[in-house]
Amino acid sequence: MAVHDDPRPRRTFAVISHPDAGKSTLTEALALHAAVISEAGAVHGKAGRRGTVSDWMEMERARGISITSAALQFTYRDHVVNLVDTPGHSDFSEDTYRVLSAVDSAVMLVDAAKGLEPQTLKLFQVCAHRGIPVITIINKWDRPGLDPLELMDSIEKQIKLKPTPLTWPVGVSGDFRGVLDRRSGGFIQFTRTAGGATRAPEKHMDADEAAEVAGEAWESATEEHELLSADDADHDQTRFLAGETTPVLFASALQNFGVAQLLEILLELAPPPSDSPGLDDVVRPVDGDFSAFVFKVQSGMDSAHRDRLAYARVCSGVFERGMVVTHAGTGRPFATKYAQAVFGRERSSVELALPGDVIGLVNASSLRVGDTIYAGEPVRYPPIESFAPEHFSTCRAADTSRYKQFRSGIEQLDQEGVVQVLRSDLRGAQNPVLAAVGPMQFEVVVARMEAEFKAPVKLESLAYSVARRTDAAGAEILAGVRQVEVLERSDGTLLALFPDIWRVRSVTRDHPDLLLEALPASGS
Ligand code: G4P
Repeated sequence: MAVHDDPRPRRTFAVISHPDAGKSTLTEALALHAAVISEAGAVHGKAGRRGTVSDWMEMERARGISITSAALQFTYRDHVVNLVDTPGHSDFSEDTYRVLSAVDSAVMLVDAAKGLEPQTLKLFQVCAHRGIPVITIINKWDRPGLDPLELMDSIEKQIKLKPTPLTWPVGVSGDFRGVLDRRSGGFIQFTRTAGGATRAPEKHMDADEAAEVAGEAWESATEEHELLSADDADHDQTRFLAGETTPVLFASALQNFGVAQLLEILLELAPPPSDSPGLDDVVRPVDGDFSAFVFKVQSGMDSAHRDRLAYARVCSGVFERGMVVTHAGTGRPFATKYAQAVFGRERSSVELALPGDVIGLVNASSLRVGDTIYAGEPVRYPPIESFAPEHFSTCRAADTSRYKQFRSGIEQLDQEGVVQVLRSDLRGAQNPVLAAVGPMQFEVVVARMEAEFKAPVKLESLAYSVARRTDAAGAEILAGVRQVEVLERSDGTLLALFPDIWRVRSVTRDHPDLLLEALPASGS
């Protein structure tokens, strides 16, 4: 039986981290523990590594970041675990935000030597905005790093979540002997394996035995554990689910230390798929009729499959391949003959999928990000908000004889949400303005327009940095205002672009009745 046809309960989560914190290594280690792959290195990976399954663009390889989303699925004990990949770079925080609409919890990976880094913070804020419970992993404990209590302090101060460590390291960073299991009071001792390539053997001991084996390291771990308890840093499931606390585990993904505990904690504490709130006060029970939500649309993942894939998270009911469902946006029937599970670059047909699973719908040209499909009673999930863009560029075809390809390429990238595409009568259809949360999104446009659509583009950046939503009346007023331009996004939203916030303020002072609404900021 394929994993996705397995009827066991689901845990669906994503890992957020700053590049290099060890996300790929952790993913491999998780898969290894669950024995999906026999040897670390076959799932993700960076430049130079074997089998870089989820990295597909040259640019990604060169930069060693993963821009695309893949869903890794494996069984562990009596559960099926879905790990949905998130882009590692904060320029793609809008993408991350969409991916996070498909998960029930997130794992925040922190490098023990670096502590909280800017992109971790930004991505964490995206989680907080979505109200997703977060489990924290302090990774690379096998290397010299920061003091664990200091790390807890910085988490509490910087992200305003109370860390409630479930394990506490025995041995300072760089001398990782194992962890104190704070709930049982026992010691989990680790043994190194060559390169962490196989499951790291663990030995469980009680406190007396631990004191004998680990001596002073055990003593100081015990003292710190008591300090934490005195500071109310013990796990509380209600507060965790409410987004007030974050359970913390110490690990070395490279050595496979702490990875088994993460899996156990995911099964035990991370929330399962639950009822989904739709528009018009409709709540879809998780065991009701089938429904799913499209969180990502992607094309041209590799040259062997130049097609378009819509990733949907099953929200309720049972999905069976071949069932005809309804596309909530149009009310039209949608056939699911070509549903697939996507594991990195590999695909296999999905016969059955349960809430929490991600299905890839092939050549689903009518599906857009944010769309709902359902069977039985109608339901429509709220659309995913677009973030406020902060970077703007004009875009034109470098070779005018390729205009047709240019147009369809821009339309495709717009539908995938790679960038926001803005237009105005003044600029004309051939010269759209591209709007992005981070400048790296533009690099993706340039690379894909050339590689996929054979329509190289020229971008020229515009001196705007702030966008506000306005209406038709506002557009009329702003037409006469210097340094301000109004453009229409493809979803019909009118965006007024300003060089800076000062200009927004002065325009607001001059026209107090003007509608100028802030859009959700990335990382707000
Ligand atoms: P990312 O996906 O978050 O960008 O990080 P990745 O897993 O690629 O890890 C970044 C680097 O950190 C890699 O080293 C990796 O081996 C190392 N690393 C990950 N987890 C641990 C850990 O627990 N302990 C230690 N000591 N190192 C860890 P690299 O030299 O950049 O790449 P590679 O040549 O080892 O692949």
